[in-house]
Amino acid sequence: MQLAERINAIAVSPTLAVMAEAERYKARGIDVVDFGPGEPDFPTPEHIKRAAITALEKNLTKYTPTAGIAPLRKAICDWHTAQFGSTYAPNECVVSVGGKHAIFNAINVLINPGDEVLIPVPYWVSFPDIVKYAGGRPEYIKTEAKDGFRLRAEQVDRAIGPRTRILILNSPCNPSGAVVPPDEFLRIYEVCKRRGVWLLSDECYSHFVYGEARPYSIASVADSKPHLITIGSCSKTFSMTGWRVGYALAPAPLVEAMVKLQSQSTSNATSIAQHAAVEALTGPMESVGAMLAEYAKRRERIIAGLRAIRGITCAEPQGAFYVFPNFDALLGTGIQSTAELAKQLLEKEHIAVVPGEAFGAAGYLRLSYATSMERIEEGLKRFGRFFQSASAAP
Ligand SMILES: Cc1ncc(COP(=O)(O)O)c(C=O)c1O
Repeated sequence: MQLAERINAIAVSPTLAVMAEAERYKARGIDVVDFGPGEPDFPTPEHIKRAAITALEKNLTKYTPTAGIAPLRKAICDWHTAQFGSTYAPNECVVSVGGKHAIFNAINVLINPGDEVLIPVPYWVSFPDIVKYAGGRPEYIKTEAKDGFRLRAEQVDRAIGPRTRILILNSPCNPSGAVVPPDEFLRIYEVCKRRGVWLLSDECYSHFVYGEARPYSIASVADSKPHLITIGSCSKTFSMTGWRVGYALAPAPLVEAMVKLQSQSTSNATSIAQHAAVEALTGPMESVGAMLAEYAKRRERIIAGLRAIRGITCAEPQGAFYVFPNFDALLGTGIQSTAELAKQLLEKEHIAVVPGEAFGAAGYLRLSYATSMERIEEGLKRFGRFFQSASAAP
């Protein structure tokens, strides 16, 4: 079928493709240990669900303003101020159908064909394709495992060219879990400001940080507004992936352009979900701390378990809920690539993982530990068995 060139320039999200393949196995009754999903395994907290039920009972089921209901735009700004010390006003906030949609809109209203967008590698799968769909060119900045995959300001300075329009920075990072420390974040921001490049800061995992790291937003910097697009989401923080509520905080003219685009595509995010999001942002946050505590335990276990398998090296990610182990020492004779490894793990041991190739980083696999400790134990057992038999093969 003849389709538009721009749709042929992009691929189906590889993480969603892994999920679909794992689902096909599960549908055949196979017990898959699923390290694939980029979503919390906890239910949405009760008080948030109740707010949605109340919204339904009050018949709040009609169109809302495209940019979101006024109480939600205010709640987002107030929450962001309380959490990070930013100073956004509701007219600098747009509610979108998830954080991905907010990123899509921001990029589409900012770039012209041929404009370049800097993307650190490894990257979240959707960044390059969103840029390509908008007619832009992704330019990659490779971050190093030895630096914990943390982007450095000098790298950004070197990578900026005459057509560079945006730097996307996702900290904590999906897939590496890297967290850019505040002092380096500030240096990166200063490079962007000096060179006239937008900094698009994707904070979707802001509240899942471990060890010394603390939730941080570059929007806390006093004069950052004119150079910054902050993307956030209820998906991960409040375990609300299916509700589809995200947002962008940005200068008012940019927000207005994003609202215009949204008004000609999705219109508003779901009315009921918006009311639930108000409760998420204004209600108690204990559930977020409880999820974090559980992730922290699982993270320790999965790192230790992977490191115990000869040939796997696993850095300690400071954020999100992923580990990103390296398999270079195990590739070569039998299995040539991590794409092939991921396939074989699913076929032979029914373990679902996402190959590093999807994130621009061959040699790695992404494992989500947003799954129960029991499943993690079972998965580690299967990993051990797989590599034992692989090393025993002639
Ligand atoms: C880095 C990153 N940004 C943004 C998103 C978008 O999430 P949502 O559209 O559910 O808000 C995701 C989801 O996986 C993500 O991993």
